[in-house]
Amino acid sequence: MKKVAVLPGDGIGPEVVAEAVRVLECLRDESGLAVEIEYGLVGGAAYDVHGQPLPEEVLKLAREADAILLGAVGGRQWEALPIALRPEKALLGLRAALGVFANLRPAILYPQLAGASTLRPEVVAGLDLMIVRELTGGIYFGEPRGIRTLDTGERQGFNTLVYSESEIERVAVRAFETARTRAHRVCSVDKANVLEATELWREVVTRVASRYPDVAVTHMYVDNAAMQLVRAPKQFDVLVTTNMFGDILSDAAAMLTGSIGMLPSASLNETDRGLYEPIHGSAPDIAGKGIANPLATILSVAMMLRYSFHEPSLAARVEAAVSAVLDSGLRTADIREGGPAAVSTRAMGDAVVAALRSALS
Ligand code: NAD
Ligand code: IPM
Ligand code: MN
Repeated sequence: MKKVAVLPGDGIGPEVVAEAVRVLECLRDESGLAVEIEYGLVGGAAYDVHGQPLPEEVLKLAREADAILLGAVGGRQWEALPIALRPEKALLGLRAALGVFANLRPAILYPQLAGASTLRPEVVAGLDLMIVRELTGGIYFGEPRGIRTLDTGERQGFNTLVYSESEIERVAVRAFETARTRAHRVCSVDKANVLEATELWREVVTRVASRYPDVAVTHMYVDNAAMQLVRAPKQFDVLVTTNMFGDILSDAAAMLTGSIGMLPSASLNETDRGLYEPIHGSAPDIAGKGIANPLATILSVAMMLRYSFHEPSLAARVEAAVSAVLDSGLRTADIREGGPAAVSTRAMGDAVVAALRSALS
């Protein structure tokens, strides 16, 4: 029996997670997947009840689970809190506690959505790239950090970008191993012309690359990479980069696929346990309206099946169900292509579950 900790979080988190859980329950009921689901409060929802965004009992639940499904955290009502109590801290705390250093963010264009991309169809047709984002180091976690008062009385905010060789090496290995299952190309993105931490990044990635002669490696500065991503995204197979660069580049890559509501992610360590979540946030501007796109979260369940449960055929079934629903013309409002009227989060979830159920029966 596999235990899944479900942490819906804030804003649209609970709305999109509800649909993903229905997909998981459908697999349990129709294909015999042995899963048991347990819920926990995280983020602002946990702060409101317990006075902290990542209560000890939720951390314990997450640690004991085989996989974690998370919605999103954050919202305007918690923005005035000190950083240590903000909902986002829960996510960072979970990632650190679980040691999930490799965050896989696949940007795949479903052919049905070619017209929904903000780029011309010929630029994005067939797009299939994998961003491997370092997730437990870099400027997000570096010390010292804080806000201090200078002798002049002026305040100064500071953060530290640090990477050790072992931190770079393990995420690079994951990127090269991933490339071996794909088109055998890795592009490492850094700012080695300015930042020593990424000068070391480039050196270590180059060293790891020498152990993978079958994988072609290139290096690119992040500013150029951002430009190349919107100029000619199909040049990329696997992109490996630092925590912050990966955060930014993956939101940009999401738009190539038609919507940020399409990108799932898997956060992995050396074990089979993983944290699965859409790359988007809690979307306060549409929360509570029932219009969010649940597909990124549903596709995160597919990643869970593949990486934590070693059920590649069930993962493919979920992805096929999503594709079938897109074939049928159903679209949530974020996917703007001038087609038929948008459907609700629930209607999209209904359709995916129905497609999955009919494929399984
Ligand atoms: P966001 O990703 O929440 O939203 C950006 C834009 O994309 C919004 O217009 C939103 O409506 C839209 N959007 C996002 N997901 C969507 C979906 N599934 N369907 C349709 N539209 C969708 O980013 P933001 O507005 O910068 O941040 C809002 C809050 O979320 C902040 O508190 C931020 O810290 C938090 N956040 C959390 C996570 C996470 O939990 N992993 C990720 C990013 C941001
Ligand atoms: C993401 C989010 C998080 C990040 C925030 C909410 C801490 O933007 O998962 O991409 O920056 O990693
Ligand atoms: Mn982000």
